[in-house]
Amino acid sequence: MDILKKYHQEHLLKFAGELDDFEKEILERQISGLDFEVLKTLDHKNEVVKRGEITPIKTLTIPEIEAEKEEYRRTGLEAIKKGRVGAVLLAGGMGTRLGSNDPKGMYNVGVTKELFIFQCLINNLMDVVKEAGNYIHLFVMTSDLNYYSTVNFFKEKEYFGYPKEYITFFCQDMAPCVSYDGKVLLETRAKVAVSPNGNGGWFVSMKKSGVINTVHEAGIEWLNVFAVDNVLQRICDPVFIGATLKNNKKTGAKVVRKATRDEKVGVMCLEDGRPSIVEYYELTDAMMDAADEKGERLYNFGVILNYLFNVAELEEMVNTSLPYHVVEKKIPCIDDSGNLVNPTEPNGYKFEQLVLDIIHLSESCLPFEVERDKEFAPIKNKTGVDSVESARELLKKNGVEI
Ligand code: UTP
Repeated sequence: MDILKKYHQEHLLKFAGELDDFEKEILERQISGLDFEVLKTLDHKNEVVKRGEITPIKTLTIPEIEAEKEEYRRTGLEAIKKGRVGAVLLAGGMGTRLGSNDPKGMYNVGVTKELFIFQCLINNLMDVVKEAGNYIHLFVMTSDLNYYSTVNFFKEKEYFGYPKEYITFFCQDMAPCVSYDGKVLLETRAKVAVSPNGNGGWFVSMKKSGVINTVHEAGIEWLNVFAVDNVLQRICDPVFIGATLKNNKKTGAKVVRKATRDEKVGVMCLEDGRPSIVEYYELTDAMMDAADEKGERLYNFGVILNYLFNVAELEEMVNTSLPYHVVEKKIPCIDDSGNLVNPTEPNGYKFEQLVLDIIHLSESCLPFEVERDKEFAPIKNKTGVDSVESARELLKKNGVEI
């Protein structure tokens, strides 16, 4: 296959002689569908990404939101009632830190009763549906690996009471996994090792899968994108939507005040005058301590993966490719002799695009402050920080029966 020669990956057919015609066809089809261009990212992986000039961005703070709350709410509800707002649940991640083989949304956070993460999210969405008086279209992004289990789980649980015609599932793209020396790995003799290509490609995947037609046909102009793992996630929050619209911004980002000056969260900023997110390790001490005349720190608001995007602007951005980030991971694969390897330490790289990189492509963004204890209970780990335990405490604190 020419494509393998072009990218020096001929070893992927090393075991092809042992495969039957059907397996061989499947392997060749998988190879033809893969984007080997991502491998070029490896050439630059040790280069420090050159950032533009970082300056502070104005956050709409809680007192400022409170002062205009009813007007924002009215504007947001009007957009929802007119069907102009949809929701996109990013559920294609592997959830490796949580350590369950099922999709993360299937995790039961209940204690005295069953309460699945997906169920928490649907319940949260229902709060807005009740307030607005109409259903909101929910698009659920999965990966090839968890598509069927996710769809079947929703079906089995009767969509947690949400009308199924308002829920659309779609798959994100997969990227090849490589060894440290840049060779794409085989998962079996007949299958290339692939993994979900990060949460940044959601809009491109909506287009590729044709799901975007549903967005356009329904007249949806705004998409609220959010992570699966925050069980206190407010979805399609009318006040957030109204504030973004009223302030004439193309994008909105929910943010929380940092718990400590050096908390490990991405922080909203401007980069060369455009909205952007600076990673915690890029913040110098001087930037961490920079404050305005009232003593308010200038880089003090971290993103929580809840964004509002404008569909027309996304359509314009779609041809600008997002950067790939190279991440070291443990990748089950077969070795040169065809023996299965289940590594206990990282053995190669995966490629991921990140939703936060879309922010920098946007013309304008409104960082919108929310109360951490009311809206941010991420489940990344089983215990400790950002865990099932901490999320259960926060759910209880917010009056959710678990
Ligand atoms: P995380 O970065 O926490 O990754 O995802 P993860 O895969 O869920 O968990 P770990 O790192 O393996 O433990 C943040 C959000 O982005 C989604 C996740 O489902 C979660 O909602 N995501 C992540 C995708 O939709 N696709 C991806 O390829 C990666």
